[in-house]
Amino acid sequence: MNLVVVSNRVARGAANEPMTGGLAAALLPVVEKSGAIWVGSSGRVRDGAQKEPFAEIEALGAGALAMLDLPAAHYGGYYEGFANSALWPALHSRTDLIRASQEDYLSYREVNAFMARALLRFQKPDTAFWIQDYHFLALGSELRDRGVTQPIGFFLHTPWPAHSTIEGVPHHRELVEAMLAYDLIGFQTRDDCENFLDYISSDLALEIDDGVITSRHGTTRAAVFPIGIDAEKFALQAAKAMSHPDVSRLRRSLNGEKLAIGVDRLDYSKGLVNRIKAFDQMWSLHPALARTVSLLQIATPSRGAIEAYGNLQSELAKLVSDVNGRHGEVDWTPIRYLNKGFSQTVLSGLYRTAQVGVVTPLHDGMNLVAKEYVAAQNPADPGVLVLSKFAGAANELDTALLVNPHDIDGMARTIATALYMPLTERRMRWEAMMAKLSAGSIQRWFADFVDALQETHADKTATEMP
Ligand code: G6P
Repeated sequence: MNLVVVSNRVARGAANEPMTGGLAAALLPVVEKSGAIWVGSSGRVRDGAQKEPFAEIEALGAGALAMLDLPAAHYGGYYEGFANSALWPALHSRTDLIRASQEDYLSYREVNAFMARALLRFQKPDTAFWIQDYHFLALGSELRDRGVTQPIGFFLHTPWPAHSTIEGVPHHRELVEAMLAYDLIGFQTRDDCENFLDYISSDLALEIDDGVITSRHGTTRAAVFPIGIDAEKFALQAAKAMSHPDVSRLRRSLNGEKLAIGVDRLDYSKGLVNRIKAFDQMWSLHPALARTVSLLQIATPSRGAIEAYGNLQSELAKLVSDVNGRHGEVDWTPIRYLNKGFSQTVLSGLYRTAQVGVVTPLHDGMNLVAKEYVAAQNPADPGVLVLSKFAGAANELDTALLVNPHDIDGMARTIATALYMPLTERRMRWEAMMAKLSAGSIQRWFADFVDALQETHADKTATEMP
């Protein structure tokens, strides 16, 4: 089989480049090994690119990476517009932040059609296409319109919310209907998959039998494939990273003080405001913890041209400065707040240095930072994960300290509990999480999806034959 993986954002193979966002970083090692062709945006735009898709192609492990310049006239409406100002807020249950015009929607559809045209050049008789994430909901249908009969699968990295929330997306019916051109649609959690099926029956009134939807496109299977990480590799990397200069400098600067760490894209779904407020509350309620523990919060700038992101950046900068002003001392800064990205290598060492990992999104498809924090720990003296119950990762990492990110007092108490947790309990919780991570690796996720896609397509072809 000749696999073509498609995502808006792609990652190159350099180990020390800063990583922005879970999807591309997670896919890189498995796509590299699989020999697949990975197609995505180059991050550049080009006038008149609609006619002649231009791809820069380079080797990537056993396969190739093809980066396309997207059409200049439609890029903004597609990326900042419909994908990130209509779909992203809705998928994360923030319908109040939906801002998208009809023009944005048309640009989104144009870019999906453009990508379909570009993919045809990678099509062979034994090709299977695997489309990633909300940027390309309609890509499968565009490919089918161009005569592609091979397997086409789709995986959603974000949550899929309740049907009434999806109804906040302009043209939701048309889009979900287009998704049914896929043979297989994968979700991170059972809830996401059930919400999707619920939409299918309530809004599209289609028949569903054991996760298989029948529509004018034929049949589509919806199923759950929780994404994982290569925990063993990450653990080795973290142990090695302890001697990295950035990590050594952090350790020296702590002077025996404990450290909590948060690493997120600067995004409203990540619950950063509530998290900072919880630390503020903790230092107010437990003055003994001032000077004893600080928070290293890395908030990597993201989608900065969108107003909601700009507003959040200003709100956080002000909040962090208030909290530091209130609790700080001449020789102690409570929150070390950094607006930049770090490489996977450095991050793994930072995770291992911190006694508490704080991952408290309001909504998150999976959240791989939670998994990486666990994998990075020293088995002899592991740190504690404080995890939002609204992250997909909470389904597997159920021996983390699970919190409600809307309950600021509760989070403050839980972070204090994490800081005082005895070694035996830390180890017990950590070992249970590590076992889950080893069982649900990224390799397993990749292989399970690709196998299921081939099987679903083969069954479908067999039943649809006259
Ligand atoms: C999330 C999305 C990805 C996206 C990443 C970074 O993880 O699921 O599709 O690539 O955020 O966002 P960006 O807009 O910078 O690609």
